[in-house]
Amino acid sequence: MSIPDASCAEKKIRRQENALFFRRWLKHPLQMGTLAPITPKLAHLAASYVQNPNGLYVEIGAGTGRLSRALLQQGIKPENLALVELDPFFCGFLNQTLPSVLKDNQPSPFVIQGDAAQLPDLLPAHYIGQVEVVFSVIPLMYLPPAVRQAIIEAAFQVLKPGGIVIHVTYSPRSPLGFMSNLHQHRRGQVWLNLPPGFVWHYQQMASLL
Ligand SMILES: C[S@@+](CC[C@H](N)C(=O)[O-])C[C@H]1O[C@@H](n2cnc3c(N)ncnc32)[C@H](O)[C@@H]1O
Repeated sequence: MSIPDASCAEKKIRRQENALFFRRWLKHPLQMGTLAPITPKLAHLAASYVQNPNGLYVEIGAGTGRLSRALLQQGIKPENLALVELDPFFCGFLNQTLPSVLKDNQPSPFVIQGDAAQLPDLLPAHYIGQVEVVFSVIPLMYLPPAVRQAIIEAAFQVLKPGGIVIHVTYSPRSPLGFMSNLHQHRRGQVWLNLPPGFVWHYQQMASLL
């Protein structure tokens, strides 16, 4: 997997996002899950699941936008990408920094402040039932199982039939192991991430019949 060389603008944003991420981690360690954004390598591994550049995509737990920018580099049209994030500081950062990685006159992705467990109520109506992939970097492993389940069920409500959730986590075990209605596959890992990161692929069993 080759990762595009970072431009000066991208390097500057990475420095800013590392500092902001660390400050927010000091304030909300469990909500953040880790003290640094995912590495570009892990972001590009997760983003490699974009198959249809004209489709609609959602990222939940967008944070400082490390994965969001990899998704745009993978060819998703910015107007077809919705980014959901709980923390208003990160929403402000995303709105400020995303335009510098877009071409002139390109619209920005939608940035929506809210709880991913309410996803169907947060997204524009034309997303519901039409989304190809929901990408998640929410630290599910630190949340109670009922909350994990609510977040994933909300994601499946907006996916199109057969749509998938790609979840980045810091444990080699799936945080959704208790959900027997899901087809669960670990698709890859990046050891040189802090901590090591794993990419999980989830699909509803019913959509595979
Ligand atoms: C590990 S960080 C991931 C940041 C980023 N996506 C990246 O590429 O590094 C997890 C993010 O999920 C957000 N988050 C946690 N719970 C959430 C929820 N219920 N709804 C939306 N965002 C949430 C946190 O505020 C944090 O920004």
